[in-house]
Amino acid sequence: MTFLMHLSDVSEREWANAFQKALPNHKVVTRQDQYSPVEIKYLYVWKPEADAFDGLDHLEVIFSLGAGVDSIVKHPKLPRGVPVVRFVDDTLTQCMSDYVVANVTMHHRQATRYKREQAQRKWDQYYPERASTINVGIMGLGQLGKDAAQKLSMLGYNVAGWSRNPKCIAGIEEFSGTAKFDEFLSRTDILVCLLPLTPETQDILCMENFSKLRRGHLPGGPCIVNAARGGHQNEDDIVAALKGGTLAAASLDVFKVEPLPTSSELWALDNCYITPHIAAISGLEAGVRLVTSQINSYEQSGELKHLVDVERGY
Ligand code: NDP
Ligand code: OXD
Repeated sequence: MTFLMHLSDVSEREWANAFQKALPNHKVVTRQDQYSPVEIKYLYVWKPEADAFDGLDHLEVIFSLGAGVDSIVKHPKLPRGVPVVRFVDDTLTQCMSDYVVANVTMHHRQATRYKREQAQRKWDQYYPERASTINVGIMGLGQLGKDAAQKLSMLGYNVAGWSRNPKCIAGIEEFSGTAKFDEFLSRTDILVCLLPLTPETQDILCMENFSKLRRGHLPGGPCIVNAARGGHQNEDDIVAALKGGTLAAASLDVFKVEPLPTSSELWALDNCYITPHIAAISGLEAGVRLVTSQINSYEQSGELKHLVDVERGY
């Protein structure tokens, strides 16, 4: 009944202590503690190292600290047949929608234009159009994309979503599958990425797709907001699009290499809005509550929620 923490970017000890209180009948260990790999039944993981699964011969459930599971499903030694459960919680969803709404409204309200004019001490009374003239397109209509779409729609934007399978969400125009992708892009002024990273979605934020976005409606040109994964974006293309005017601005929370190297040209572009992968966090309180209830339900009835389809990749 041992529960192992294998976490990057956060304190394993802090999470282990919190889980130990919530699960007093289990032994909770960090990678620094004494344990034998064969005693591990549950694993809590974020960015698994190469040896993350070595010797875990009695592993029953893998819990992901993150909502995104790309680093787990692509792990070459992921034990086949062991269920992977991901992080789904209202606190995370709300934070992500906060980020998306903040960045979409910022681009709609021409933040880059006024920032540049402020630097020149220039007073030019240009009035941005109302929200209902702006088309927002959200790639990914899952837990996070659906909530962001609904909140933007409530603010008056024309919102469309693109997903693999058809959806029916009141007030949201829906496009699905690769056959509808170009049509979705061609009606979009502000493109938001909330896709999982899979071989199909890798590098989807590229020049070819930027050039298909709607032009002539949002002053300066279309904008992108990426809060999903750095693997979705071709960063050379983003630099070229931001410099050349194919994109008016980009908000990027995630990067191919994190932390974003100081040598990246993105840092210096005044129409690039960089945040250090903070759009939404899997908080300790929510994480302990969620995983504890999943373990309790698994032990009572064998049931688990928010299971990942490992073959599909999300
Ligand atoms: P979900 O799995 O709930 O939703 C994924 C959505 O993407 C679904 O609508 C799915 O379609 C769609 N999709 C997947 N593949 C394709 C494809 N090939 N073509 C079209 N649509 C596709 O994920 P979440 O909403 O919970 O999270 C999305 C991502 O956000 C995570 O994978 C993670 O990488 C990122 N994230 C980033 C955070 C940050 O702080 N920056 C925090 C949390 C998450 P369908 O519904 O038809 O299956
Ligand atoms: C996640 C993340 O996937 O924080 O949850 O990126």
